Parts: sequence; structure tokens; C-alpha cells
Amino acid sequence: MKNTVATFLKMKQQGEKISMLTCYDYSTAKLEEEAGINGILVGDSLGNVMLGLPDTISVTMEDMITFGHAVARACHNTMVVIDMPFMSYQVSVEQAVMNAGRLMKEGRANAVKLEGGAAVCPQIKAITDAGIPVMAHLGLTPQSVNALGGNRVQGKTEAGAQKLIEDALAIQEAGAFAVVLECIPAKLADMITKKLDIPTIGIGAGAGCDGQILVYQDMLGLFSEYTPKFVKHFAELGGAMKEAFQAYDREVKAGSYPAPEHTFKIDDDVLEKLY
Ligand code: KIV
Repeated sequence: MKNTVATFLKMKQQGEKISMLTCYDYSTAKLEEEAGINGILVGDSLGNVMLGLPDTISVTMEDMITFGHAVARACHNTMVVIDMPFMSYQVSVEQAVMNAGRLMKEGRANAVKLEGGAAVCPQIKAITDAGIPVMAHLGLTPQSVNALGGNRVQGKTEAGAQKLIEDALAIQEAGAFAVVLECIPAKLADMITKKLDIPTIGIGAGAGCDGQILVYQDMLGLFSEYTPKFVKHFAELGGAMKEAFQAYDREVKAGSYPAPEHTFKIDDDVLEKLY
């Protein structure tokens, strides 16, 4: 059964936790779907983990469409949310609706995600009015890394926490169907979760959220440049992959791969006719 915005809302109402992971390619998306993950985010974190960029600022609409469509092709049950990249929605409401439409038409998204609170409510309302579900994103919003002065925990002061509560209520009022809460204190995320009718999806925001999301390379131990405090390695595939690459390298150099069972045959009488 396809996970939809209605499924997410029902899960919150029934107290059932929502699982989300990021994904950027067809093969991994198939595995996530088979594992029963409720939602996949094709995050602009692809800038970091797929393209090796220092942040998400340079990620383009074309990047999001290419990776997004690859994921969408694998997902029959899992909801696919595609991130709106930096500057694809901030300039004007009209551009925001056009670009959200492209992610649906060309990327085959089921919903889009954008970062920000009250400041982007006109965009959230217009995109939602166009029939496109919007997931909001509050707290640490990586596209604003330069304005925030780094990737730091948000909402620790009274003013910061109050602003987050107001933003959460505003994006709900504007029509968002869910909100990602990134890197905020667990007790604040819990409070926001209780105040909202829409589901909260936490990343570094504690267990009180209605659901959780992680970057899949982080939770599989595939990305070792930095590991945020909230990341748990559910497997250590980085080491396993490196060992496999080393074994291949050894066998190729020793001439033991490919073995006869990996090769194609030709009849000797065909060979004899060749000159
Ligand atoms: O781009 C991304 O992967 C995200 C998640 C960290 C929520 O926005």
C-alpha cells in the first residue's frame, strides 16, 4: 500500500512511529522499500554524500530531478519526498510553485520539502494550493548554514525556542503536511510534536518526534568525514565495502578473477575457421 500524506497523518493520530531515510539511487531505494521504510527523502544532502560538496548550497534543480527520478522508479509503496534546493523557492512564490511542479512532473515526487518557517509560509500555501504536498524543515536548516554560522543545535535559548514553536504553528497553518525538526533539544521537539496536528520527523531531535529520519550513508557507516552526535551506525558497511574492493584488487592482480565460471564459451570449430 502506497504511503501517502493521509498515511502519515493517520500514523501520528494512532501513535505509530514513522520511519524515513534519505536515498539518492534506484538500487538503494529498492532495498529501503523492501525493508518497509515509510518515506524516502531525496535530500539535498546529496550535495555532501553523493557529490562531495562541503554543503548543500550548490545543489541544483537538475541534480534533484536526476537523483529523485531514479529513486521514484523504485518506490511503489514508499512515499518519495524530494528536497527543493537552495534558491529554487526563496526568490518568489511563483518560482517556488514552478520548481515544486518540476520536482513532481520530472522527478516523480509524491511531495516536496523546503526549509524555513514563517518566512516561507506564502510559498508553502501556494505550493499546497497547487495540489503538491509540502514537508517543512525547521531547526538546523543546512541551506542557511552561512546565516546560522555553522551546523549548530538550534532553539536552546528562550527566544530561539519560542520562534521555533511559532514557526511550527505557522507552517502547519500554511498547509504543510509534516515537518522535519533537525538538531533541536529533545524536550523542545517533544513539546512541538504535542502542539502540532501534523507529524514531526526528527533528526537529532530525540525520541518524542512522530518519526525519525537519517542520511542512509550515516546510519550504514558509509560516510566517515564527520559523524553528528545523533547518528547511530546500524551497520558498518564502509569497512565491508573496502574489504571487498581490496579482495577484488588482489584477485585481478593475481589473475584469479575472472575464473572459468565467469567466462563465456565459443565452439572450437568456430575458432578454427578464424584467421
Ligand atoms: O537533505 C537532507 O538529507 C535532509 C535531512 C537531513 C532531513 O534535509
